[in-house]
Amino acid sequence: MNLKIAVLPGDGIGPEVVLQAKKALYAISVMFDHEFIFEDALIGAVAIDKTGTALPEQTLNLCLNTDVVLLGTVGDGDPKYDNNPDAQKRPSQAVLKLRKELGLFANKRPIKTYATLMHSSPLKREIIEGTDFIIFRELTGGIYFSDKSLNDEKNKATDVCEYSEEEITRITHLAFQAAQKRRNKVTMVDKANVLETSRLWRNVVQKVAYDYPDVELNFLFVDTAAMQLVLNPRQFDVILTENLFGDILSDEASAITGSIGLLASASFGTKKALFEPIHKSFPQAKGKNIANPIASIVSAAMLLEHFGLTEEAKLVHEAIEKAIEYNVVTLDLNPGTSFGTNEVGEFVSNFILNKDDLMYFNNDNVHIGQSTIV
Ligand code: IPM
Ligand code: MG
Repeated sequence: MNLKIAVLPGDGIGPEVVLQAKKALYAISVMFDHEFIFEDALIGAVAIDKTGTALPEQTLNLCLNTDVVLLGTVGDGDPKYDNNPDAQKRPSQAVLKLRKELGLFANKRPIKTYATLMHSSPLKREIIEGTDFIIFRELTGGIYFSDKSLNDEKNKATDVCEYSEEEITRITHLAFQAAQKRRNKVTMVDKANVLETSRLWRNVVQKVAYDYPDVELNFLFVDTAAMQLVLNPRQFDVILTENLFGDILSDEASAITGSIGLLASASFGTKKALFEPIHKSFPQAKGKNIANPIASIVSAAMLLEHFGLTEEAKLVHEAIEKAIEYNVVTLDLNPGTSFGTNEVGEFVSNFILNKDDLMYFNNDNVHIGQSTIV
């Protein structure tokens, strides 16, 4: 298969973790005879610093004209921008604009525990063992994108939350179809005891559910869902929810697995798709070779799955599991580790390449066919 992949390394640890994902993809292309062409472009705080805008036109055009987007991380947490309420330009604007422009209305976040990492979770083993669910988060609607205002005195603000039946229907179908391939259970999370938009969600979801009689549907209020996630995460198969609730619950859910550095997400619509880690840009770790690259590598595996390259994706997952099993992991998973971002990435790539020496990898290979456009 030929794939043109837009790579947006972004801020903080983004460039170093996405490099490991590229290495894994390059190794897959060698082993399965695919051609993957990577093209890098700027996004986030680095793009603001260099071009004055978080999502330069050139970056957006690249994303519109390639088959798929691989994103590193975008700099919320950078004190100059997202943590400063008065900043006019924010790295996160780039993420939101990209989602909207590429029509990425569905965001899929799988949460699964690794058998060998139970001890890394703050939750008890008996609670988390066997946890395996997916959050389907609506990504281009709701309070994130509806009208916002701040009065002239700057002492009163509004964020409207709006949803249409069409927006709810399209992601609901995807969630039910995913459940059919899993354990046939959808949990819709909302706040229907308070919010009108939540009541619309319930009605629409119930209507769509008639098309999937084999899938069990139940409802939870978001506050209860937040509690149930840590009390009994095994009960969930597919969680379906709106934009803001999905954002909050997926960060909470990531704690179950022991490290947010393990989880990735896929965002897609009818045409385009984007893959990225769930974690943030972690500027304090930038350039120190300590960031966990696994989430980014998992995002590469999800990219392969998206294009039907199931065997290839399986091999990437297997390589990750081996790295964890051999304890070739970063600080977040083993405080006494002697391995860094690059070593974990090398191990994974070399496992894919079936090398005897799992610690050898020639970084130069990754740059084949790559051009930097901004
Ligand atoms: C996420 C992030 C984004 C969001 C930010 C960076 C705008 O937290 O992808 O979960 O809130 O959607
Ligand atoms: Mg988030």
